[in-house]
Amino acid sequence: IMMTVLCIILGYLLGSIPFALVIGKLFYKTDIRQYGSGNLGGTNAGRVLGKKAGISVIVLDVLKVVLAAGLASLVSEPAAIWTSLACCIGHCYPIFAHFKGGKAVTTMFGFLISTSIFIFQEFSYFLVPLFMFLIILYLFKYVSLGSICASVCSSLYITAQLLSLDVNNLFIILASWLMTLLVIYRHNANIKRIQEGTENKVSWL
Ligand code: G3P
Repeated sequence: IMMTVLCIILGYLLGSIPFALVIGKLFYKTDIRQYGSGNLGGTNAGRVLGKKAGISVIVLDVLKVVLAAGLASLVSEPAAIWTSLACCIGHCYPIFAHFKGGKAVTTMFGFLISTSIFIFQEFSYFLVPLFMFLIILYLFKYVSLGSICASVCSSLYITAQLLSLDVNNLFIILASWLMTLLVIYRHNANIKRIQEGTENKVSWL
């Protein structure tokens, strides 16, 4: 239990590394919190700093979860699951950036990838939501809407696949829905903008 708690703390700290802020400040001398949506995430990094920065932030934000979950999976399966959740929470409420971070999308994706790799060796857990994200993005041009739909889709898919009396599977289902709730909650302002018709659309699709 001690090791699990340590992993969860490490997960929170790794999740707290605000790569959108670090890359913006280090390579572009720009604090992206002052531009675009103000969000510390891959989408806003791409919007403000360009595609290369956006992709780098997305990859690093995914990797921080994969790293944390990978280390925790050496302890136990539940440790990996709760460490991923801690990573998502750290990403949204980072101790290193005044608790104002991102929207849990890439970190939830990191959780889906690490669950696929370390627990199931079955890649549909992240491929299905990724496909959903791309379809919604193509149809509506809103990254936020694609993110919300993909997140709900991934939790529905996980629930459908794993619903059983196995405790570890129930942990994954629970963690996944908690992440989805976090994603939706963090997109509050985006949802309002979508309803008002003022949400940013991607220009390159
Ligand atoms: O990465 C989060 C995305 O779904 C929305 O980001 O910057 O458009 O609020 P943003």
